Amino acid sequence: MAIPDRFNAFRIHQDDSGYHAGLEPIGLDQLNPGEVVIRAHWSSVNYKDALAGTGKGKILRRFPLVGGIDVAGTVVASTDPAYREGDAVLATGCGLSETRDGGYSPYVRLAASAVIPQPTGLKPREAMILGTAGFTAALALLRMLDNRQTPAHGPLAVTGATGGVGSLAVDIFTRAGFEVHAISGKADQAGYLRGLGAPRCCRVRCWRPPGRWNRRASVAGWTMPAARC
Ligand SMILES: NC(=O)c1ccc[n+]([C@@H]2O[C@H](COP(=O)([O-])OP(=O)(O)OC[C@H]3O[C@@H](n4cnc5c(N)ncnc54)[C@H](OP(=O)(O)O)[C@@H]3O)[C@@H](O)[C@H]2O)c1
Repeated sequence: MAIPDRFNAFRIHQDDSGYHAGLEPIGLDQLNPGEVVIRAHWSSVNYKDALAGTGKGKILRRFPLVGGIDVAGTVVASTDPAYREGDAVLATGCGLSETRDGGYSPYVRLAASAVIPQPTGLKPREAMILGTAGFTAALALLRMLDNRQTPAHGPLAVTGATGGVGSLAVDIFTRAGFEVHAISGKADQAGYLRGLGAPRCCRVRCWRPPGRWNRRASVAGWTMPAARC
C-alpha cells in the first residue's frame, strides 16, 4: 500500500508559544525511526492521553511527539522479517506518546520489538476498547495465575472498581471464573459493578483488610489510602 507524502496527525508541542497540541500535516520522515509502519485503524483515549494532550500531566519526555499510547492496525511496510504487509498488529505502552510518536496518526512507525500480532479472536476495535487499561487488568490476571491463585482459593477483591483498570479487572477476573468482590468509593455504582459480574460490592470505608480477602486481595487501581478507610 502506498503511504501518502503527508497525513494529519495529532501532535503535541512544548515550545516558545507554550504547550499546544492539535492535528497537523506531517510526513513519515517526521516520525521516529522503526522497522514497522502500521496503517492505524483504532487507538484509545486513556487518562494518560488526556494528561498528555492537555499538558496537565508530565507524560511526554520529549517534544514534539504524536500522541496516543496505543494503536491497532495493519502493517503497510516492514524491514523486519517477523512482520509482512497486511499483518494485523497492535502496540501498547513501549514509550508511545512518552518518548516516541504514538497512535494518533493514520500511519505509525514503530520498532518491531514494540509490535505484537493481533491476538486471535480480538478485532482491532475490540483490542482498543480494552486498551491499555484492559491489558493492565489482564496482566494482573496472568500474574495471579502465575502465582497459582485460582478461583478455588476464594473471593478476590478489586479496589478502585469503577475505574478504567478496576472495571475491566472486575469483568476479566469474573470471566476467568473468580468470585470478584468490588470495592468502590461510589455507593451508587453497585448496580454497574454487579452488571460486570461482581456478586458483592463494598464501600471503601467498609473494607477490612484482615477480613475474608486477607489472603488473596488483588489490588487493581489505586492502593487505598488511609484517608478513605
Ligand atoms: N489506565 C491504564 O491504562 C493504566 C495502565 C497501567 C497502570 N495504570 C494505573 O492504574 C491505576 C488506576 O488507573 P485507572 O486508569 O483505572 O484510573 P481511574 O479510571 O481514574 O480509576 C481509579 C479509581 O480509583 C478509585 N479512586 C480514585 N481516587 C481514589 C482515592 N483517593 N482513594 C481510593 N480510591 C480512589 C476510584 O474508583 P472507586 O470510586 O470505584 O473507588 C477511581 O475510579 C493508576 O494508578 C494508573 O496509573 C493505569
